[in-house]
Amino acid sequence: MAQKWTPDSWRSKPILQVPEFPDSAELEKTEARLATYPPLVFAGEARKLKSMLANVANGNGFLLQGGDCAESFAEHGADNIRDFFRVFLQMAVVLTFGSQQPVVKVGRIAGQFAKPRSSNIETIDGVELPSYRGDIINGIDFDEASRIPDPQRQVMVYRQSAATLNLLRAFAQGGYANLENVHQWMLGFVKDSPQAERYRKLADRISETMDFMKAIGISADNHPSLRETDFFTSHEALLLGYEEALTRTDSTSGDWYATSGHMIWIGDRTRQPDHAHVEYCRGVKNPLGLKCGPSMTPDGLLELIDLLNPQNEAGRLTLIARFGHDKVAEHLPKLIRAVEREGKKVVWSCDPMHGNTITLNSYKTRPFERVLSEVESFFQIHRSEGTHPGGIHIEMTGKNVTECTGGARAVSAENLSDRYHTHCDPRLNADQSLELAFLVAELLKGGRDQDMRAAANG
Ligand code: PEP
Ligand code: CO
Repeated sequence: MAQKWTPDSWRSKPILQVPEFPDSAELEKTEARLATYPPLVFAGEARKLKSMLANVANGNGFLLQGGDCAESFAEHGADNIRDFFRVFLQMAVVLTFGSQQPVVKVGRIAGQFAKPRSSNIETIDGVELPSYRGDIINGIDFDEASRIPDPQRQVMVYRQSAATLNLLRAFAQGGYANLENVHQWMLGFVKDSPQAERYRKLADRISETMDFMKAIGISADNHPSLRETDFFTSHEALLLGYEEALTRTDSTSGDWYATSGHMIWIGDRTRQPDHAHVEYCRGVKNPLGLKCGPSMTPDGLLELIDLLNPQNEAGRLTLIARFGHDKVAEHLPKLIRAVEREGKKVVWSCDPMHGNTITLNSYKTRPFERVLSEVESFFQIHRSEGTHPGGIHIEMTGKNVTECTGGARAVSAENLSDRYHTHCDPRLNADQSLELAFLVAELLKGGRDQDMRAAANG
């Protein structure tokens, strides 16, 4: 029998990846203040996302989840948000067209500010300082003052998330996402990229279809699904004091929800079943993600599934596999088999970023061909297990950064220093993101053709 859950029951559990705040009175005061602020998202929206993910868990639909590794105060601006949203929409359109299935759109945005770190200390030229843990905790500059955890940053994160969400809602519902704009989503620098021609061809086919539909009376004016889209937010629920302050009861159901974002996930380093992060997440009703890295065992996974989704509700739990291109074949099949054997309903998503990080010329980077290779293996494994490859989870930006090597417009090890802007892990740039979307669309289309052949022969 599970113990009683409360928004603060995580406080009596062991916890990893949390810094010591020097002024605990100020921390308490800040959390108390945050607890009086309006929720950032509504429970009803989280429920809607859950029902869309339930369809994916049942084999119908695809989850596209992506955004910055870490959002930052320095890069908060309308252009960044628009460029991200635009490339995200392009990816979603490519995937919808390829799969002929609904694509569930979830950004790593409007709350993705706290980072787990492999070391508590960062050393540069013999100088040791506490590691940067994301703008919600301390500053990235390598000096003593910046690295001191500051509770005021949580208030700044709340306000930045509210502003970001406001613009995203406007883009998603206010006309920008209208499918009639499918040509206008071409980004400045993607316009002359190797992906441009492919995208333009696809946009032409969509426009042609829209013209046909308009001729028979179906248009964006009378069909909201053509002029609006559902876009959801997500982040790693790492800083639990902040999450607790934004945990609210839903007046219609009486259930608890994290209102810091629609979906939250548990990182690969903080998923111990008896620790604080699992304790917090099990009690809120939002859709949850769970990162699964190479140390995840089939029994360990089943234990976590029972804790996080005891009712086996489809859409509640997304398993985000992040093994690495050379490890996915060793680890993923046995986890899929355990889940299938026990009849657990989950969405399987592939994070091809976090298992493929290497260092080149002292930059953290990810070779694009390894990212593609992990995604391909993920699909292949699901096809041979007879399960649904339900989504991808990526670190990406709408900007023309040089953080991951490779891609059609090849970024080399020497190019990394040109535009390396990430506050944490290397992201796919707009070009690479679109290239990945085309590959996934092909894989989804391949699976659809396979299913149709099976149906015809069956
Ligand atoms: C992340 O998604 O940024 C992250 C830290 O991932 P993981 O927990 O899988 O390492
Ligand atoms: Co990351």
